[in-house]
Amino acid sequence: PKIAMIGAGQVGSTAAHLIAKKELGNLVLLDIDAGMAQGKALDIAEAGPVDGFDVAVTGTDDYAEIAGSEVVVITAGLARKPGMDRAELLRNNVEIVAGIAREVARHAPEAYVIVVTNPLDAMVCTVKEVTGFPAHRVMGMAGVLDSARMRRFIAEELGVSGKDVTAMVLGGHGDRMVPVRGSSTVGGIPITELLPADRLDAIVERTRHGGGEVVELLKTGSAYYAPGASITEMVESIVRDQGRIRPVAAHLQGEYGVSDLYIGVPAIIGAGGVERVVEIRLTQAEREQFDASVEAVRNLIAEARA
Ligand code: NAI
Repeated sequence: PKIAMIGAGQVGSTAAHLIAKKELGNLVLLDIDAGMAQGKALDIAEAGPVDGFDVAVTGTDDYAEIAGSEVVVITAGLARKPGMDRAELLRNNVEIVAGIAREVARHAPEAYVIVVTNPLDAMVCTVKEVTGFPAHRVMGMAGVLDSARMRRFIAEELGVSGKDVTAMVLGGHGDRMVPVRGSSTVGGIPITELLPADRLDAIVERTRHGGGEVVELLKTGSAYYAPGASITEMVESIVRDQGRIRPVAAHLQGEYGVSDLYIGVPAIIGAGGVERVVEIRLTQAEREQFDASVEAVRNLIAEARA
C-alpha cells in the first residue's frame, strides 16, 4: 500500500521512519516546505539499508503525488509552545487543515484519514466536513498516545513492563480526557487491585497533563516519539487489517448517548477504518467527566466554525 504523511515536521517524520521500518507501505512525505519533505524522505530512505527496510520514501509539496494512497496521515500545522493552550492553535490550524482536506478529497478520494494536528477533536471534525468522506474513513489519533502515557506511568509505579499494562482514555484530547480505571489492567489483573486509589489518582492527573509535561521540558516544541509510535500502530491496524481495539477520535452517531460529534472512544480499527465503536461501562463519576468533555469539544468545534 501507499501511505501519505502530510506534514514532515517532528511528528510526521518520526512516524514515517517507524512506518518505513515496519514496511507498512511506500511513503510519500508532503510538506509546504518541499525541501523539508524531500530532505526528511531522503534521510529516512538512507536509513533503509541499515534498518533493513526496502520501501520507497519520497518527499514533495505536490498533492498529485499522494494519488492512490490507502492511508493519509495529517500532521501539518503549528505545534503547541510552552504556555500555549490547545485552543490558541485553533485559528491557524483550522485553516491549514481545511486546505489540506480539500486536496486529500481531490487527490486521494478513497483514502482512510488519520488526523493528528491539534486541537485534535476540532481538526478531525474539519476534515470530515471538508472531505465529505464517510465517518468510518476519518479518525483522530490521541487516545492511543494518552493511554500509552498512562500505561508508562503505571508500569513505572509498579516496576513492571509497560507491554503488560492496558489503559483506556476516553473523551477529548486535552486536560479533560477521561482515563477509565475499570478498563486498566496489568497482566490481566484489574489496576484497582494493584494500586491504591490515591496512587492511581496521581497517575490519572499526570496523564491528563502528559503532553504539557513534555512541552515544559523540551521548551522548543512538543512530543513526537510517542505520538509517532501511536500513529504507526493505527496505520498498521488499518493496512494489516488487525482489528485492534484502541481509543480513537471517532464520529459518534448515538453511541454513548452522543450524536454527530468526534470524540475519543474505544473502537475496532481495521481494513474498514473505524469498524465499530465499542461502548464500555463507565462509573457515575467517569460518565460525568465524559459529558463535560463532550461539552468542551462541542464548544471547541463551535469556536472552530466561528
Ligand atoms: P512541526 O512544526 O515539527 O511540523 C509541522 C509541519 O507542518 C512543518 O514541517 C510545517 O512546514 C508543516 N506545515 C505547515 N503548514 C502546512 C501546510 N499548509 N501544508 C503542509 N504542511 C504544512 O510540528 P509537530 O511537532 O510535528 O506537530 C504537528 C502537529 O501535531 C501539531 O499540531 C501538534 O500539536 C500535533 N500533535 C498532536 C498529537 C496528538 O496526540 N493528536 C501529538 C503530538 C503532536
